[in-house]
Amino acid sequence: MEKIDSLIGQCAGADVVVLPELANSGYNFTSKEQARESSEEVGKGPFSEFLLSKCRQYGFHLVAGINERDGDSLYNSSILVSSDGIIGKYRKMHLFWNEPDFYQSGNLGLPIFDLGFCKLGMLICFDWIHPEVWRIMAMKGADLICHPSNLVLPGLCQKAIPVHAMMNRIYVITANRVGAEGDKTFTGMSVIADPKGDVIHQASQSEEEAGIVDLDVTLARDKMMTPLNHLFDDRRPEEYALLCEKK
Ligand code: ACM
Repeated sequence: MEKIDSLIGQCAGADVVVLPELANSGYNFTSKEQARESSEEVGKGPFSEFLLSKCRQYGFHLVAGINERDGDSLYNSSILVSSDGIIGKYRKMHLFWNEPDFYQSGNLGLPIFDLGFCKLGMLICFDWIHPEVWRIMAMKGADLICHPSNLVLPGLCQKAIPVHAMMNRIYVITANRVGAEGDKTFTGMSVIADPKGDVIHQASQSEEEAGIVDLDVTLARDKMMTPLNHLFDDRRPEEYALLCEKK
């Protein structure tokens, strides 16, 4: 929280600020106890209170990865907070590596939140490898997908994000972590991609940073690839049944 506090003033004036995955706990747990001790119930712990206080101080919305406790279960979650409180929550669906030792898979679907100035969805880190969830969120009307991350596979996701943005004509903000924790090194290079697939900001591989870019949501609402090709209307779902089968 001290680290976030020291950087977040640079985001004064922003509408939406995105923090990395598991921003209240770190990622590389050595025991179930460690994971549980660093978790909190959404809206009822010090991290939720801190995020709310920052939203009240600066007037922005915050998206933050959080180690969420719900009864006996933990979820690798992302929350959307405003100065009025918690607006929404997403629980990571596609768990990475040993995360199933600590977390249940997400069970809240793929919600979209209409903030008036923008429709926003959240995905978390390894969700990047599954194009289905990006497409579903775009089809639900997301202008922007916020993607808190603790990426460890060098360079892969950073290449995929502009493609997800282009293929769905949406904005994507991947807020990744830098540095190391135990045997895991995080790959930094947070990326913001626009609906044309252009990278409009790429952060450093090793330095912590914060900043602001302008997004034009009207670009994300134009799904015409050509005057005759609508991104979603041209789909052939009758040919995609295999996508809904378990392998
Ligand atoms: C990851 O899903 N944190 C790699």
